[in-house]
Amino acid sequence: MPLDVFSAEYAWSEDDRDPLRHLRSEFIVPSKHDLQAKRLREVDTGASEEICTYLCGNSLGLQPKRTSKVVSEHLNAWAKKGVYGHFMKHEDSNLSGFLNLDAEAADMMAPLVGAKTHEVAIMETLTANLHLMLASFYRPNKDKYKIILEGKAFPSDHYAIESQIIHNGFDPRDAMICIEPRGSSTAILETSQILSAIDDHASTTALILLPGVQYYTGQYLDIKVITMHAHSHGIAIGWDLAHAVGNVELSLHEWDVDFAVWCNYKYVNAGPGAVAGLFVNEKHGFNDQSGTFRPRLSGWWGGDKAIRFEMGRQFVPIPGAQGFQIGNPSSLAISALIASLEVFQMTSVDALRQKSIKLTAYLEQMLLESPFAKALGDQDGLPYEILTPSASEARGAQLSVRLLPNMLEDIMADLEYNGVVVDERKPDVVRVAPAPMYNSFKDVWNFAQIFINACANAKIKLKGPKTRGGTS
Ligand SMILES: Cc1ncc(COP(=O)(O)O)c(C=O)c1O
Repeated sequence: MPLDVFSAEYAWSEDDRDPLRHLRSEFIVPSKHDLQAKRLREVDTGASEEICTYLCGNSLGLQPKRTSKVVSEHLNAWAKKGVYGHFMKHEDSNLSGFLNLDAEAADMMAPLVGAKTHEVAIMETLTANLHLMLASFYRPNKDKYKIILEGKAFPSDHYAIESQIIHNGFDPRDAMICIEPRGSSTAILETSQILSAIDDHASTTALILLPGVQYYTGQYLDIKVITMHAHSHGIAIGWDLAHAVGNVELSLHEWDVDFAVWCNYKYVNAGPGAVAGLFVNEKHGFNDQSGTFRPRLSGWWGGDKAIRFEMGRQFVPIPGAQGFQIGNPSSLAISALIASLEVFQMTSVDALRQKSIKLTAYLEQMLLESPFAKALGDQDGLPYEILTPSASEARGAQLSVRLLPNMLEDIMADLEYNGVVVDERKPDVVRVAPAPMYNSFKDVWNFAQIFINACANAKIKLKGPKTRGGTS
């Protein structure tokens, strides 16, 4: 007899059948005890203590076990070789010299974003890279000076665009076209709406910047169609892929994206504030015969490696995205990224996405259709709604759950007490992200039980005893 989809046994059996289940053992999942402890102890691999339910890879991915090993090998190379560590290969190690780490990481990253190796650079932070891209791609004139973005863009993107517009002598009140969702009942931007905003402002628009996966709603935008449409008007378009990389399949080269920027601390698991990534389409990265190249803010690390140490005054960029590099990157930060990319090399983005689609659909089903959810919503409906689109092609791993007013604080406290890690966006949204790399069906099942129970408690508290004498 088939198992009941909402039973614990079903979740367990799905985990047994999961072809990627071995990847979880590549990660350190914090124990409940460690999360609550006031002191940092030796990291425990979770073998001896009850581990937490971590569904927060959209904010900070878990640490791969190999990270400390790879980073300490680089520390060792620095300790034993000093400056020679920049160049040396060792017979007993796969380590590149510090000088080549950035290119090696770009090579490993390219399949995650569907790019050619020379279209990727590993450098700086997302916001710094966005500024660099705006400096190169936002070349306004009196006729075309607007930038189209979304009204609920991640604040750093909004600030970066606003400041670049001012820096170029234009007025953000006129030059920023912020696309807002249609109506107050939805947070989703329909593709048709984005396309018509582009049509409406095409004659005055210099650039478009949009998110691959929207950080607040988890909506996965149609990058291919929107990029084609922008190009049909001759407008360049860039993408913020903070929530898309390592989460959904990307084909930046094939989709003819002009540029993209991303961070590596979410689904890529390279650690807090990890070194970020940059995509520049090869058509924008070449140097032509006469030695001219796309204008940019330059630094010596973007210069041709063959002559970098000749200390000349003529800047000759490395062809491609790496020609946009600025300064000497942190080899420790890049080695942490390389460690996490080694885990990606054990699977494929396609396999991760297949699992992710199932896992997120299961989460949605648990929250909307399980007997626990039905019991919770029995009398006056569920105290939450899912903001994220329900079509798998229009979302990644994350579901954003909007609660009734005044429930967030109690629910988050309840989840924390029970060792469930998700993140909140005040005043009323909980973002839940089962990362296919290390999350299981059991994680989702646990979360759903604890979350629905927390909602029931918060509901009772909200209804609570009436204040004495008060009827209004
Ligand atoms: C969508 C999005 N854009 C931009 C940023 C800013 O990234 P960074 O601080 O690495 O520059 C973040 C950070 O979480 C983000 O989620």
